[in-house]
Amino acid sequence: MSVFIRGTGADKPERLLTNQDLEKLVDTDDEWIFTRTGIRTRHLAAEGEATSDLATRAGQRALDDAGVDASELDLIVVATLSPDMLTPSAANLVQRNLCPGLGIPSFDINAACSGFLYGLQVVKSLIDSGTYRRVLLVGGETITRFVDYQDRGTCILFGDAAGAVVLEHGDEAGGLGSIRVGSDGACHDLICLPGGGSLRPPTTYDPADDRADWFLRMQGNRVFKMAVQSMEQVAKDVLADVGWTVDDVDLVLAHQANRRIISAVGERLGVPPEKVPMNVAEMGNTSAASIPVLLDDQCRGGQIRPGQRILMVGFGAGLTWGAATLEWT
Ligand code: ACO
Repeated sequence: MSVFIRGTGADKPERLLTNQDLEKLVDTDDEWIFTRTGIRTRHLAAEGEATSDLATRAGQRALDDAGVDASELDLIVVATLSPDMLTPSAANLVQRNLCPGLGIPSFDINAACSGFLYGLQVVKSLIDSGTYRRVLLVGGETITRFVDYQDRGTCILFGDAAGAVVLEHGDEAGGLGSIRVGSDGACHDLICLPGGGSLRPPTTYDPADDRADWFLRMQGNRVFKMAVQSMEQVAKDVLADVGWTVDDVDLVLAHQANRRIISAVGERLGVPPEKVPMNVAEMGNTSAASIPVLLDDQCRGGQIRPGQRILMVGFGAGLTWGAATLEWT
């Protein structure tokens, strides 16, 4: 028995934030942003919309793709660092939207940009154990709500989106293989949002605070090197687990943080660029949504065919990282 992706879906909000728009907000320019990151535009959630709205649309599209009714789900998991509110979870709200009144369990996972890979491992384990048979896993973010549009080091990077997969047990060959995740909390302050949690609750807010305490902040250049190193290592680990060489891999779906990071990981692994698709130019960094949105893009574009061997790899705040192998069916 293995675990299979039966359907994919994505939601990319209509509103765009271009590099030219950012030039009006901070001291930056299109050339700097594109050269350093590969990003041209990002999608922004509409006013009044939150992560669960994007996750619901992506989830419904994945269900339609799989030919599954929401009432047939056993569990809904949302990977996000930008839920609608601290509690309840975004997954609870997706459950309300997709299959109200059925008591289907739902919860969130927060492992930042690695959240979808953490989610895959948790859901695979729950299906392998026989606890559940059919699960909706969504990576969804409205991360731009937590970005400081006065900080040129971060505001150029992020976008909003959701990507979803329907996972199901099956007896055929293929499906998900090895999934490994890791973390290093000692580096938590390299990417963090200190304000609004139990350490710095809103009651402690002081107008004299450092503005950066209340937004997502990042030491980008330190994160860059660690991202490349940890993604290379965890990717090699899962390939070794399943006995694939790099040449066996048809497609690498890497977290879309920065074109230079993705290219560096591909080069270190020895995978040719044509096997490492990117949508970072259009999407920016959409954190937990990044890998499932890219997967959906590739499926709908016809680039993924049965029998192909796919490597997924990601990295994010925590620090966290992860990789997974998948044989498409
Ligand atoms: N426009 C113009 N200049 C800028 C900008 C900007 N938007 N941002 C920074 N600069 C300047 C800096 O001030 C610095 O100037 P100085 O040399 O005079 O001090 C110079 O450009 C170089 O800055 P670096 O930070 O060293 O630039 P770098 O090449 O590292 O690129 C970037 C910055 C794009 C943020 C890169 O470090 C990066 O992508 N890091 C990784 C991000 C990531 O992957 N995060 C993980 C996931 S996020 C999550 O989990 C939520």
